[in-house]
Amino acid sequence: MVTMAAPAATARTARTDNKVDREDRSTVGHQFVDNARMTCRDVNVYYGEKHAIKNVSIDVGRNEVLAMIGPSGCGKSTFLRCLNRMNDTVDTCRVYGEIRLDELDIYDKSVDVVPLRAQVGMVFQKPNPFPKSIYENVAYGPKIHGLSANRTELDHIVESSLKKAGLWTEVNDRLDQPGTGLSGGQQQRLCIARAIAVRPEVILMDEPCSALDPIATATVEDLIAELQEQYTIVIVTHNMQQAARVSQRTAYFHLGDLIEVGKTDRVFTNPRHKLTEDYITGRFG
Ligand SMILES: Nc1ncnc2c1ncn2[C@@H]1O[C@H](COP(=O)(O)OP(=O)(O)OP(=O)(O)O)[C@@H](O)[C@H]1O
Ligand SMILES: [Mg+2]
Repeated sequence: MVTMAAPAATARTARTDNKVDREDRSTVGHQFVDNARMTCRDVNVYYGEKHAIKNVSIDVGRNEVLAMIGPSGCGKSTFLRCLNRMNDTVDTCRVYGEIRLDELDIYDKSVDVVPLRAQVGMVFQKPNPFPKSIYENVAYGPKIHGLSANRTELDHIVESSLKKAGLWTEVNDRLDQPGTGLSGGQQQRLCIARAIAVRPEVILMDEPCSALDPIATATVEDLIAELQEQYTIVIVTHNMQQAARVSQRTAYFHLGDLIEVGKTDRVFTNPRHKLTEDYITGRFG
C-alpha cells in the first residue's frame, strides 16, 4: 500500500520510483492527438445508479489502432459502445459528455443512429453472422443503406469486402451457403467483412479474438494491420500481447476511470501509473 500522500503539487514526482499513486485517478499520459478521428470529452456513463464510466476524455487518431485494456468490469465494453451509441439500446444506460466523429456530435438529437452505426461499425466478441447465406451477410448492409445501384455493384462490394477480410479464397465457391456453417474464425472474418461492406470510418472490436484459436487469431490480427491503412480501429482485448502487436496507442481503464493512455510500447515498457504497472505485470485482474 501507498504510504502518506505527498503534498498535492509534487504528488506525481515525489515518489522515488516516479510512478503515479494508486489513489490518483486522473488520467496520465497523452489522451489527445493532433489528427483525431474521434474526440471524447468528459464522458460519464451510468447504468441506473452505477457510475460505469467516470469523466473520460480521449481522442482516437486517424488510421490508428487504439487498444483498450483493463480488468473485467472496468468499463471497456461500455466505453466502446458509447462510440457508436450502442448503449442507446440499454434502457437503464445514460451517457453524458461529448463524443464527436470528426465534426459530428454523435449524440446530437438530429443524428440517426442507423447510418451512424454503419460509419462506426462494430465487431463483437462472439461472431454473430445473420442466419442467411455468406453473400447475404455481406450484402445486407449495402442494400439497406442503398450503396449499390444494381446487382453487379453489389457483387463487387461483397467480393471486395470478403477479400479485405481475408476470407474470399475460402468462401468464393460457396457464397450461397449459410454464414453460420463457417468455422469460428471464418465467421469472425465474415462479420468483419459485413462491417467493412458499409464503408465505415471507424471499426470497434470488442474482444474479437477471444473465441478463436491461435491461427484464426493471427489471421484477424494481420487483417487489423491491413485495415488500419483505411480505417480507424478501437479494439478491446484481454490479451496484452495482442494489444502490443496490433495497436499504436493503449488506454488502461480501472473501475470506470481512464488511468493511463500512451504509445503502446511506452505503456507496456514504462507505465507511469502504479495501477497500470500492477495490471500489466499481472498483479491485478
Ligand atoms: N446492461 C448493464 N446494466 C447494468 N450494469 C451494467 C450493464 N453492462 C455493464 N454493466 C456494469 O458496468 C460496469 C462495466 O461493465 P463493462 O461490461 O463495460 O466492463 P468490461 O470492462 O467490458 O468487462 P469485461 O472485461 O468483463 O468484458 C460493470 O460493473 C458492469 O457490471
Ligand atoms: Mg467487455
